[in-house]
Amino acid sequence: MLSQPDLLLCAQLCDDVADALVNQGYFCQDHALPQTLTAALLNNLQQLEEEEALQPAGIGRQQQHQLNRRIRRDKIHWLSTDDPVQATYLAWMQALQQGLNQRLFMGLFDYESHFAHYPPGAFYARHLDAFQGRSNRVLTSVYYLNQDWQEADGGELLLYTEEQSTALAEIRPEAGRLLIFLSDRFPHEVRPTQRDRYSIAGWFRINNSLNGQIDPPS
Ligand code: OGA
Ligand code: MN
Repeated sequence: MLSQPDLLLCAQLCDDVADALVNQGYFCQDHALPQTLTAALLNNLQQLEEEEALQPAGIGRQQQHQLNRRIRRDKIHWLSTDDPVQATYLAWMQALQQGLNQRLFMGLFDYESHFAHYPPGAFYARHLDAFQGRSNRVLTSVYYLNQDWQEADGGELLLYTEEQSTALAEIRPEAGRLLIFLSDRFPHEVRPTQRDRYSIAGWFRINNSLNGQIDPPS
Protein backbone atom coordinates (compact mmCIF):
# COMPACT_ATOMS: atom_id res chain seq x y z
CA MET A 1 0.00 0.00 0.00
CA LEU A 2 1.23 3.49 -0.83
CA SER A 3 1.08 6.35 1.69
CA GLN A 4 -1.46 9.14 1.18
CA PRO A 5 1.14 11.59 -0.25
CA ASP A 6 2.47 8.89 -2.57
CA LEU A 7 -1.07 8.14 -3.78
CA LEU A 8 -1.41 11.81 -4.76
CA LEU A 9 1.91 11.73 -6.60
CA CYS A 10 0.83 8.53 -8.28
CA ALA A 11 -2.45 10.08 -9.48
CA GLN A 12 -0.44 12.82 -11.21
CA LEU A 13 1.91 10.21 -12.69
CA CYS A 14 -1.09 8.23 -14.01
CA ASP A 15 -2.48 11.38 -15.68
CA ASP A 16 0.88 12.09 -17.33
CA VAL A 17 1.47 8.51 -18.47
CA ALA A 18 -2.08 8.23 -19.86
CA ASP A 19 -1.72 11.50 -21.81
CA ALA A 20 1.66 10.51 -23.24
CA LEU A 21 0.44 7.04 -24.25
CA VAL A 22 -2.54 8.54 -26.08
CA ASN A 23 -0.47 11.26 -27.77
CA GLN A 24 2.73 9.42 -28.68
CA GLY A 25 2.60 5.82 -27.44
CA TYR A 26 5.42 6.30 -24.96
CA PHE A 27 6.24 8.21 -21.79
CA CYS A 28 9.58 9.23 -20.29
CA GLN A 29 9.99 11.27 -17.11
CA ASP A 30 12.67 12.05 -14.56
CA HIS A 31 12.22 11.85 -10.76
CA ALA A 32 9.19 9.66 -11.36
CA LEU A 33 9.33 7.86 -7.99
CA PRO A 34 10.61 9.03 -4.57
CA GLN A 35 14.38 9.34 -4.47
CA THR A 36 14.62 7.25 -1.27
CA LEU A 37 12.90 4.36 -3.02
CA THR A 38 15.25 4.63 -6.02
CA ALA A 39 18.29 4.50 -3.74
CA ALA A 40 16.86 1.56 -1.77
CA LEU A 41 16.19 -0.35 -5.00
CA LEU A 42 19.78 0.16 -6.17
CA ASN A 43 21.02 -1.05 -2.79
CA ASN A 44 18.77 -4.06 -2.95
CA LEU A 45 19.98 -4.97 -6.45
CA GLN A 46 23.65 -4.58 -5.55
CA GLN A 47 23.10 -6.75 -2.47
CA LEU A 48 21.55 -9.49 -4.65
CA GLU A 49 24.54 -9.20 -6.93
CA GLU A 50 26.91 -9.77 -4.02
CA GLU A 51 24.89 -12.81 -3.00
CA GLU A 52 25.17 -14.05 -6.60
CA ALA A 53 21.40 -14.12 -6.84
CA LEU A 54 21.29 -12.76 -10.40
CA GLN A 55 21.02 -15.12 -13.38
CA PRO A 56 21.86 -14.68 -17.08
CA ALA A 57 18.77 -13.36 -18.85
CA GLY A 58 17.00 -15.55 -21.40
CA ILE A 59 14.99 -14.67 -24.49
CA GLY A 60 11.64 -16.31 -24.98
CA ARG A 61 10.95 -19.38 -22.91
CA GLN A 62 13.80 -21.71 -23.76
CA GLN A 63 16.72 -20.61 -25.90
CA GLN A 64 20.29 -21.74 -26.11
CA HIS A 65 22.82 -19.87 -24.05
CA GLN A 66 25.10 -19.10 -27.07
CA LEU A 67 22.30 -17.46 -29.05
CA ASN A 68 21.36 -15.46 -25.98
CA ARG A 69 24.87 -14.09 -25.62
CA ARG A 70 24.72 -12.60 -29.10
CA ILE A 71 21.46 -10.81 -28.30
CA ARG A 72 21.66 -9.78 -24.65
CA ARG A 73 24.23 -9.91 -21.88
CA ASP A 74 22.42 -8.60 -18.82
CA LYS A 75 21.82 -10.51 -15.60
CA ILE A 76 18.44 -10.46 -13.96
CA HIS A 77 16.45 -11.18 -10.80
CA TRP A 78 12.63 -11.24 -10.75
CA LEU A 79 10.99 -8.92 -8.22
CA SER A 80 8.84 -10.38 -5.47
CA THR A 81 6.55 -8.96 -2.81
CA ASP A 82 8.51 -11.04 -0.25
CA ASP A 83 11.10 -8.27 -0.12
CA PRO A 84 9.80 -4.99 1.38
CA VAL A 85 11.72 -2.70 -0.98
CA GLN A 86 10.68 -4.68 -4.05
CA ALA A 87 7.12 -4.77 -2.66
CA THR A 88 7.08 -0.95 -2.55
CA TYR A 89 8.12 -0.71 -6.20
CA LEU A 90 5.48 -3.31 -7.10
CA ALA A 91 2.87 -1.29 -5.15
CA TRP A 92 3.68 1.76 -7.29
CA MET A 93 3.35 -0.26 -10.46
CA GLN A 94 0.09 -1.77 -9.25
CA ALA A 95 -1.27 1.72 -8.55
CA LEU A 96 -0.12 2.78 -12.01
CA GLN A 97 -1.85 -0.27 -13.50
CA GLN A 98 -5.13 0.65 -11.78
CA GLY A 99 -4.80 4.29 -12.77
CA LEU A 100 -4.23 3.42 -16.43
CA ASN A 101 -7.13 0.97 -16.43
CA GLN A 102 -9.39 3.70 -15.05
CA ARG A 103 -8.21 6.32 -17.52
CA LEU A 104 -7.70 4.28 -20.69
CA PHE A 105 -9.69 1.05 -20.12
CA MET A 106 -6.59 -0.96 -20.97
CA GLY A 107 -7.66 -4.09 -19.09
CA LEU A 108 -4.20 -4.53 -17.59
CA PHE A 109 -4.37 -7.64 -15.49
CA ASP A 110 -0.98 -8.07 -13.87
CA TYR A 111 2.61 -6.90 -13.83
CA GLU A 112 5.90 -8.80 -13.82
CA SER A 113 9.33 -7.21 -13.52
CA HIS A 114 12.98 -7.97 -13.00
CA PHE A 115 16.08 -6.16 -11.89
CA ALA A 116 18.73 -6.06 -14.58
CA HIS A 117 22.47 -5.54 -14.27
CA TYR A 118 24.45 -4.85 -17.44
CA PRO A 119 28.15 -5.17 -16.59
CA PRO A 120 30.64 -3.17 -18.70
CA GLY A 121 30.47 -4.42 -22.31
CA ALA A 122 26.89 -5.69 -21.96
CA PHE A 123 24.12 -4.69 -24.38
CA TYR A 124 20.73 -5.83 -25.66
CA ALA A 125 20.29 -5.93 -29.46
CA ARG A 126 17.26 -4.33 -31.13
CA HIS A 127 14.08 -6.24 -30.29
CA LEU A 128 10.35 -5.92 -29.68
CA ASP A 129 8.97 -6.99 -26.29
CA ALA A 130 5.74 -8.28 -27.85
CA PHE A 131 4.42 -9.27 -31.25
CA GLN A 132 1.02 -7.96 -32.22
CA GLY A 133 -1.72 -10.30 -31.07
CA ARG A 134 0.75 -12.96 -29.97
CA SER A 135 1.69 -11.81 -26.52
CA ASN A 136 -0.06 -10.76 -23.38
CA ARG A 137 2.60 -8.12 -22.69
CA VAL A 138 1.00 -4.81 -23.66
CA LEU A 139 2.94 -2.14 -21.82
CA THR A 140 6.68 -2.10 -21.04
CA SER A 141 8.19 -0.17 -18.13
CA VAL A 142 11.87 0.52 -17.53
CA TYR A 143 13.02 2.29 -14.37
CA TYR A 144 16.64 3.41 -14.07
CA LEU A 145 18.78 3.39 -10.92
CA ASN A 146 22.15 4.93 -11.93
CA GLN A 147 23.40 8.19 -10.40
CA ASP A 148 25.24 10.71 -12.62
CA TRP A 149 25.20 8.81 -15.87
CA GLN A 150 27.54 10.51 -18.36
CA GLU A 151 27.42 10.44 -22.14
CA ALA A 152 30.75 8.57 -22.20
CA ASP A 153 29.17 5.80 -20.09
CA GLY A 154 27.15 4.61 -23.14
CA GLY A 155 24.34 2.16 -22.31
CA GLU A 156 21.59 4.37 -23.82
CA LEU A 157 18.23 2.86 -24.63
CA LEU A 158 17.34 3.64 -28.24
CA LEU A 159 13.63 3.65 -29.03
CA TYR A 160 12.51 3.21 -32.65
CA THR A 161 9.21 3.28 -34.47
CA GLU A 162 8.56 0.17 -36.55
CA GLU A 163 9.70 1.66 -39.88
CA GLN A 164 12.56 3.82 -38.70
CA SER A 165 16.25 3.05 -38.67
CA THR A 166 17.09 6.27 -36.82
CA ALA A 167 16.08 6.37 -33.18
CA LEU A 168 13.00 8.27 -32.08
CA ALA A 169 14.46 8.77 -28.61
CA GLU A 170 17.80 8.13 -26.96
CA ILE A 171 17.44 7.61 -23.25
CA ARG A 172 20.28 7.67 -20.75
CA PRO A 173 19.72 5.27 -17.84
CA GLU A 174 19.75 8.02 -15.18
CA ALA A 175 18.42 7.28 -11.67
CA GLY A 176 14.74 8.20 -11.28
CA ARG A 177 13.94 8.11 -15.00
CA LEU A 178 10.84 6.09 -15.87
CA LEU A 179 10.10 4.94 -19.41
CA ILE A 180 6.77 3.37 -20.39
CA PHE A 181 5.84 2.30 -23.92
CA LEU A 182 3.41 0.14 -25.86
CA SER A 183 5.21 -3.22 -26.05
CA ASP A 184 4.26 -4.14 -29.63
CA ARG A 185 4.86 -0.71 -31.16
CA PHE A 186 8.46 0.23 -30.34
CA PRO A 187 11.53 -1.81 -31.24
CA HIS A 188 14.40 -0.81 -28.94
CA GLU A 189 17.95 -1.69 -28.02
CA VAL A 190 20.46 -1.08 -25.24
CA ARG A 191 23.80 0.21 -26.55
CA PRO A 192 26.94 -1.36 -25.04
CA THR A 193 27.53 0.08 -21.61
CA GLN A 194 30.92 1.22 -20.36
CA ARG A 195 29.86 1.18 -16.72
CA ASP A 196 27.75 -1.08 -14.47
CA ARG A 197 24.18 -0.29 -15.49
CA TYR A 198 21.23 -1.01 -13.20
CA SER A 199 17.53 -0.97 -14.12
CA ILE A 200 14.15 -2.60 -13.57
CA ALA A 201 12.34 -3.85 -16.67
CA GLY A 202 8.67 -4.79 -16.35
CA TRP A 203 5.57 -5.65 -18.33
CA PHE A 204 1.89 -4.97 -17.72
CA ARG A 205 -0.09 -7.86 -19.11
CA ILE A 206 -3.59 -8.63 -20.21
CA ASN A 207 -5.13 -11.97 -19.43
CA ASN A 208 -5.28 -14.03 -22.62
CA SER A 209 -7.22 -16.78 -20.89
CA LEU A 210 -10.22 -14.47 -21.25
CA ASN A 211 -10.12 -15.55 -24.92
CA GLY A 212 -10.70 -19.15 -23.89
CA GLN A 213 -7.03 -20.16 -23.72
CA ILE A 214 -5.11 -21.15 -20.65
CA ASP A 215 -2.50 -18.46 -20.12
CA PRO A 216 0.83 -19.99 -19.09
CA PRO A 217 3.22 -17.99 -16.92
CA SER A 218 6.18 -16.73 -18.99
C1 OGA B 1 14.26 -5.46 -21.80
C2 OGA B 1 14.81 -4.14 -22.19
C3 OGA B 1 15.84 -2.05 -21.59
C4 OGA B 1 16.70 -1.39 -20.56
O1 OGA B 1 14.65 -5.97 -20.73
O2 OGA B 1 13.45 -6.03 -22.57
O3 OGA B 1 14.60 -3.76 -23.31
O4 OGA B 1 16.98 -0.19 -20.75
N1 OGA B 1 15.48 -3.38 -21.29
O5 OGA B 1 17.13 -2.01 -19.59
MN1 MN C 1 12.91 -4.83 -24.23
